[in-house]
Amino acid sequence: MFKSLRAEIDGMMARDPAARSRLEVVLCYPGFQALVIYRAANWLWRRDVRLPARFLSHIGRVLTGIEIHPGATIGRNLFIDHGMGVVIGETSEIGDDVTLYHGVTLGGVSPSENSESQRNTKRHPTLERGVIVGSGAQVLGPFTVGECARIGANAVVAKDVPARATMVGIPAKSINTAQQQPRRAAEEPPFIAYGTPTGDIPDPVARALDGLLDEVHQLRARVNELETQAQDSGVDGVEDGEQRGESESADGHEHLRGKC
Ligand SMILES: CC(C)(COP(=O)(O)OP(=O)(O)OC[C@H]1O[C@@H](n2cnc3c(N)ncnc32)[C@H](O)[C@@H]1OP(=O)(O)O)[C@@H](O)C(=O)NCCC(=O)NCCS
Repeated sequence: MFKSLRAEIDGMMARDPAARSRLEVVLCYPGFQALVIYRAANWLWRRDVRLPARFLSHIGRVLTGIEIHPGATIGRNLFIDHGMGVVIGETSEIGDDVTLYHGVTLGGVSPSENSESQRNTKRHPTLERGVIVGSGAQVLGPFTVGECARIGANAVVAKDVPARATMVGIPAKSINTAQQQPRRAAEEPPFIAYGTPTGDIPDPVARALDGLLDEVHQLRARVNELETQAQDSGVDGVEDGEQRGESESADGHEHLRGKC
């Protein structure tokens, strides 16, 4: 029990640049406190002690601002950073090493008129291992967010998300480029605070410039090739053309003069 709590604290410290000591996490991190209360409430829930489980999780909500239904299934090392306003619904499933920021909802959609019939059906999302959900994001419905996917702040996600995708907007759309996708599952992206990578993710403007430079080099090589061919075959067109161009432009200037 204490070993696993220690591991949870270490996981939180590894993912929050602001955390300085284990004691600080225990005393000042509502995400940690909510998780401890959830573990106890979930223990009661699984033994069919339902009302005390709900009441305990309600106390957790009052103390931390984080509402976790005791029936939710949560793996190891969940990190809820800041926490206030997080809601995790009853049939949510959360894999290991998931990170949620404040204001995230793992919720259902459109409650049906017959809530009795819905009680035992899955209504909330499943987040696979390593998912990061940005602040204010709403993940609504009984679908799966694949491993290591990142959901942008304030996104609204209402359908399946592929592993390692980055989703932003309402409704959320993927912004992954081919270069950003790890080529193999083994190339697992490391955790990055706030889900925001720095470093070797290629800059799209630099990529576009690289492409243009390549094209310029190819065109220059082609022009050189054509000039060599023209000289070899004795065509003197370039110089003729230049002379014709000069006299045409002189005429042209005569026409334009006086118009502007
Ligand atoms: C989604 C996210 C993970 C993407 O990070 P990233 O890979 O570094 O992406 P970039 O910042 O390069 O943005 C790529 C594009 O998506 C847009 N974008 C990024 N996050 C967005 C968001 N949440 N909503 C809408 N658009 C977003 C950017 O404006 C950019 O658009 P452009 O290409 O037209 O300029 C990150 O922006 C995010 O929202 N992280 C959560 C942070 C959070 O919740 N912090 C709370 C800490 S207390």
